[in-house]
Amino acid sequence: MSRIVYVNGDYLPEADAKISVFDRGFLMADAVYEVTSVIDGKILAFDGHIERLQRSLGELDMKAPCSTEDLLDIHRELIKRNNVVEGLVYLQVTRGVADRDFAYPDAEPSLVLFTQSKNVVNAPMAKTGMKVISIPDIRWGRRDIKTVQLLAPSMGKMAAKAAGCDDAWLVEDGVVTEGTSNNAYIVTQEGTIVTRDLGHHILSGITRAAVLRFAAEAQIKIEERPFTIEEAKQAKEAFVTSATTFVGPVVEIDGVPIGDGKVGDIARRLREIYIEESLKTAI
Ligand code: PDD
Repeated sequence: MSRIVYVNGDYLPEADAKISVFDRGFLMADAVYEVTSVIDGKILAFDGHIERLQRSLGELDMKAPCSTEDLLDIHRELIKRNNVVEGLVYLQVTRGVADRDFAYPDAEPSLVLFTQSKNVVNAPMAKTGMKVISIPDIRWGRRDIKTVQLLAPSMGKMAAKAAGCDDAWLVEDGVVTEGTSNNAYIVTQEGTIVTRDLGHHILSGITRAAVLRFAAEAQIKIEERPFTIEEAKQAKEAFVTSATTFVGPVVEIDGVPIGDGKVGDIARRLREIYIEESLKTAI
């Protein structure tokens, strides 16, 4: 069965879902996106993702394609039409169609959404943990805006694959910013969670905010500050968070096992809490 994709007001078979070659998303990566997870047919952390979408649009002076209520209706309709029980919804807003010009045109935004059915709760990575390499962070300076300029992270992912690993942690000025498509954490030998402080250098993860809140509620100490790969190699545990991996344990960095080289207790516990708590507010 072919998927049904949403394009600018229409629900279409994916083969018929098309965007103009003059769309700024295609020509200039002039577009922002969000990815939300679906469990039991319900969307996790919808409000947080839509708030961040609005912030991304605002930072780029891009018009909102429709209201939040409409966006929720479209998400739900697509989940229904594609029978998604578990997986994700991808949403992209572009500045729209206009003749090529570096200045922003006054165009009508394009809105595209599609679904991907996949196991997110029982992903094998949650049990085995992932291996990461460290590479230089070559991305632009406004990583807080969730744009579709994803070639640097794609190159990072390919470098990781070439090294027989699962992902890459990005390093700038000697310290870790984040993973290719997730936020990065270590747990010190004393049991403190350390993750990069927010700013233009990383994406403010919706999963990050929730996981830090749950960690604080579980009386785990948290430090939001830069850390080096050397410090990470000495850590008791390491993990990543994102809408699609939830809490993903990291068991090896640049060939060095983290802790005992197995999935850590804090990562495992936070993953369980995150899934359980997020389902309570899923819509
Ligand atoms: N990526 N940092 C980067 C660079 C990301 O691309 C993502 C998400 C995150 C985590 O954000 P959140 O917890 O809100 O998903 C951090 C999505 C999943 C993607 O590009 O597919």
